Amino acid sequence: MIREMIADKAIVAVHTFLITEELTMKNLGYYNGTFGPLEEMTVPMNDRACYFGDGVYDAGLVRDYHVFAMEDHLNRFYGNAEKLDIQVPMPKEELRDLINELVLKLDQGDLFLYYQVTRGTAIRDHTYERGVGNLWITIKPATITDGKKPIGLITTEDQRFFKCNIKTLNLLLNVLAAQKAKDAGCTEAVFYRPGGRVTECAHSNVHILKDGVLHTAPLDELILPGITRAHMLKLCDQMGVPYVEEPFTVEDLKAADEILVTSSTKFCMRADRLDGEPVGGKDLKTFEKIRSALYEEFLEDTKA
Ligand code: PDD
Repeated sequence: MIREMIADKAIVAVHTFLITEELTMKNLGYYNGTFGPLEEMTVPMNDRACYFGDGVYDAGLVRDYHVFAMEDHLNRFYGNAEKLDIQVPMPKEELRDLINELVLKLDQGDLFLYYQVTRGTAIRDHTYERGVGNLWITIKPATITDGKKPIGLITTEDQRFFKCNIKTLNLLLNVLAAQKAKDAGCTEAVFYRPGGRVTECAHSNVHILKDGVLHTAPLDELILPGITRAHMLKLCDQMGVPYVEEPFTVEDLKAADEILVTSSTKFCMRADRLDGEPVGGKDLKTFEKIRSALYEEFLEDTKA
């Protein structure tokens, strides 16, 4: 009885919240059907994310309340969940509608959208009962930039596991690398495997331009198949910019005409420093072609 009363109260609270807070939210957190200001949301301690980082996520930008490249992100998200035997609690179409609905509750339209599904709630145990996962969504304001400002990079050895193609919550080494870059006054850390092969960055993909050709790492278990990378290659096809999907090394980075860094939040940027040394600046024309094409596509697709 008491439990029912508490449940009723919770429903009243949610309804009151909907009436008073709708359309005025600075940020938003959603967890399995309940939502509120992000800082006020709580999750069960036994959500398997807390013990094992047992989940997958996806993330992207919203401009003027329009979610960019939603299908690409949702397809990757559902594909990754399936690879790890995790069940998203609703079909893709429903999640798309839910996201579109939640986005409209924010008091500004330029947003960073993040969602993750975790493998349910249970007392800590490595093995699991198959069942419906927990859905988390967070939305916060974003400042959208065009990527024109060059960035600094550091290099750091890639000691991550071999499933970097799956966007899991396990980002400990990405977090450490990102902080190392920040401490060095840089924007990103470029990972390389023993032997020198460049994989990707802490939270972006990395590519080089050499003699007019774009070089990008092949899609294997060492890199995330970036949505921006895919869009970039499609645009290169359209613009007649030749590219190869082949491994390249730190030495190639240093000798590149340009180093390009891509992600859903920053589109395409170029580096002008690598480990404190000047790099790039030798093919600004091709960089600008790629950068502006990606940014224009974003502006066009998110037009009111
Ligand atoms: N990061 N590689 C890694 C390790 C990433 O975390 C990301 C994206 C990318 C680029 O992928 P995409 O073009 O699909 O954004 C590559 C996002 C932005 C993040 O974790 O916030």
